[in-house]
Amino acid sequence: MVSIAIDGPAGAGKSTIAKRVAKELSYIYVDTGAMYRAMALYLHRNGIDAEDAQTIAGACGGAKISIEYRDGEQVVLLGGENVNPFLRTQEVSAMASRSSAVPEVRTRLVQLQQELAAAQNVVMDGRDIGTVVLPHAQVKIYLTASVGVRAKRRFLELQEKGESPVLSQIEAEIAERDHRDMTREVSPLKQADDAVLVDTSDMTIEEVSDRILSIVREKLS
Ligand code: DC
Repeated sequence: MVSIAIDGPAGAGKSTIAKRVAKELSYIYVDTGAMYRAMALYLHRNGIDAEDAQTIAGACGGAKISIEYRDGEQVVLLGGENVNPFLRTQEVSAMASRSSAVPEVRTRLVQLQQELAAAQNVVMDGRDIGTVVLPHAQVKIYLTASVGVRAKRRFLELQEKGESPVLSQIEAEIAERDHRDMTREVSPLKQADDAVLVDTSDMTIEEVSDRILSIVREKLS
């Protein structure tokens, strides 16, 4: 099986690019962030405090998370329910950022991710794919962009949805999330030694996908 690992901070464009690359290669796209979000939704629905790591550790075993593909889209099931529509709320993002630092949560989800990659060719994106989940991935990419550029992208995305975001606030949230993801004890976000760094700050989506596809072709040839 071939595995392509794409890691990087929030807003670097991982999911957009990973989806495109997966489609181009006819591989399965695995969005691991959505799994951490489904776990966070489960914890949130059970009224668990995001700061209470001990209770999260004890409760996470109750979440029955699985993945299915419907019309080529990844569907995350929580106890059989399609929870995709509930994964992008502010509450779930805030919980996911904290619960993903709990080792028991990571152990469960990493196992699921490794099973998926053992069964098919995948493009998997996340924070620790090249370092922890798939250390033997044939291709590893570390996708990043400046905080300012990532905040601007998020700002435009929210504006398009009809919201009235505040750029400075988004920028502060992104910087805080980066800090949490990069300094947590378990599987912090960092570039794997053998990952290729791609800074997307001044690149279009097309340029980034072309660059990654050329890296993939070179590595696999
Ligand atoms: O990529 P995302 O924003 O959907 O990720 C949601 C949260 O899960 C985010 O706080 C980072 C965390 N995450 C992680 O710790 N490890 C991964 N492999 C993927 C996401």
